[in-house]
Amino acid sequence: MTRQPCLAAAVALSLAAPALAETAPKEVHFDAGKVADSLTGVPGDPANGVKVMTTNALGNCVACHTIAALPEVQFPGTIAPALDGAADRWTEAELRGIVSNAKMTFEGSFMPAFYKTEGYIRPGDGFTGKAPEGELPPILTAQQVEDVVAYLLTLKE
Ligand code: HEC
Repeated sequence: MTRQPCLAAAVALSLAAPALAETAPKEVHFDAGKVADSLTGVPGDPANGVKVMTTNALGNCVACHTIAALPEVQFPGTIAPALDGAADRWTEAELRGIVSNAKMTFEGSFMPAFYKTEGYIRPGDGFTGKAPEGELPPILTAQQVEDVVAYLLTLKE
């Protein structure tokens, strides 16, 4: 059995490989609202961040926030602070924390937690009326969170 050690070495190597895996919602480490580490290790794409923020089924941030840099958004909501200059007020780690779960920064906020699978009031299944089994998926993927953070970091005044 000469193959065994090679296999073990290969497994050890793959385990030691840099963290290409995403951080699962449950594993996100909040430090006073801040999330220091990228959720994916892949740099965010600000252009896709805009898409996430302005698409109804995704972030839909503009339902509550105005962003002067996006004049093409029609009828943005004004029930939350304007995001202009967000990068002057918040660090990357703070913004990642706010987007992942705003309640960790703003206690009792009605801003949705975009990267969370636990602690929801579970909607009933439309057919059985029972809460669905298993975890609900987060609203945004880890990479979408990173893309949104990358765009927010461009909002300087
Ligand atoms: C349902 C309304 C709502 C939605 C949708 C929403 N937010 Fe918020 N957000 C708020 C409110 C309200 C606050 C103010 C903090 C609080 O709750 O007191 C806030 C605060 C913030 C802040 C800090 C404000 C500042 O000083 O710049 C950032 C950044 C932010 N939101 C980003 C986002 C992003 C990005 C999205 C979309 C992925 C989003 N929000 C979606 C309601 C919302």
